[in-house]
Amino acid sequence: MGVKLGILGLGTVGTGTVQLLQDTTDRNPLLQEVEIYRVGVRSLDKPREVQLPEGVVTTDLESIVNDPEVDIVVEVIGGLEPARSLILQALKNGKHVVTANKAAIARFGDEIFTTANEAGVYVLLEAAVGGGIPVIQPLKQSLSVNRIHAVTGIVNGTTNYILTRMQQEGSNFEDVLVDAQRLGYAEADPTADVDGLDAGDKIAILASLAFGGRIHLEDVYAEGIRQVSKTDIAYAEKLGFVIKLLAIAKLHASDRSKLSVRVHPTLVPKAHPLASINGVYNAILVEGEPIGQVMLFGPGAGAGATASAVTSDILHLVATLKTSTANPNPLLACRHQDYCEIAP
Ligand code: NDP
Ligand code: HSE
Repeated sequence: MGVKLGILGLGTVGTGTVQLLQDTTDRNPLLQEVEIYRVGVRSLDKPREVQLPEGVVTTDLESIVNDPEVDIVVEVIGGLEPARSLILQALKNGKHVVTANKAAIARFGDEIFTTANEAGVYVLLEAAVGGGIPVIQPLKQSLSVNRIHAVTGIVNGTTNYILTRMQQEGSNFEDVLVDAQRLGYAEADPTADVDGLDAGDKIAILASLAFGGRIHLEDVYAEGIRQVSKTDIAYAEKLGFVIKLLAIAKLHASDRSKLSVRVHPTLVPKAHPLASINGVYNAILVEGEPIGQVMLFGPGAGAGATASAVTSDILHLVATLKTSTANPNPLLACRHQDYCEIAP
């Protein structure tokens, strides 16, 4: 029996995810287990890039999270409400949730994860930070034995795209922002990108994972790129720097019990690994002991990249739901048999 998805949102990320799920080429055998059962949108009149059977698309999102047939809810509407209420209702109804919504997780993470734990279900959020870059799972698992000293990242694709084009082409801030919106990188309200708030949400999530406590948004200093001029960029260039919007979570050198978490435009020496991350690309540099330095790098926004992260989370859950004593390792069917894991 297939695993039934209720997808909330059919915008940039929702459309990319449906396209990946509908792809009939041999990407991953687990895709065959997935059924796009219901999809929620705001308007039924908008032209869509994907075709779905009649009756699948609805504007009644509550009916999706309350539908007993739905196994996994994929929240890609964004924003705070109704996203928070829909996620909580889905969890209370025993459904696993995949979300790309860093704003909701950064603000309501406590409530969301407590509810998930009480209901015995999973919330996966790989797409919430770094678009297509696997960073949540590595911090939760592969790097979990390390004592992390610092997480430093370019975690907003829109602002990195704007700064790169201002630097490389001398373009105007406003013109490039319009391009970033057209390409589907920016948030519905792009002030969240431009003013550093989106990066603030993301570094709060990364810091919570890396340092093992709950980092609250009021503890994060966030400043965006509005004040960065072409002249600043040109002077920085002359002095051997590039200007990047960095998100930083770092233990104090003199007192390791203190953590500073901040987002601001930063002069980055051209030889630094983060200096060469351009366009919509993001990178997250993790420093810890005993690992030393690890940098995760890739496309930080956009339909395809983000859909890759969302869909991988979905397949992780599908694998979990398919686990049974009769077949304890359902991912043995996956392409890299020796390396597949079962549990998220
Ligand atoms: P879009 O604005 O492109 O799409 C939002 C979708 O949700 C639309 O289909 C819209 O319906 C639907 N929607 C929004 N509000 C409601 C509502 N109240 N009721 C019903 N439907 C609603 O957003 P994105 O796809 O860009 O982003 C979605 C999420 O993914 C956000 O949390 C964002 O931060 C995150 N994200 C985005 C990335 C990107 O590159 N864009 C990358 C990583 C994460 P309709 O189509 O009818 O208007
Ligand atoms: N608006 C976000 C960005 C989307 O530009 O990085 C990816 O989270």
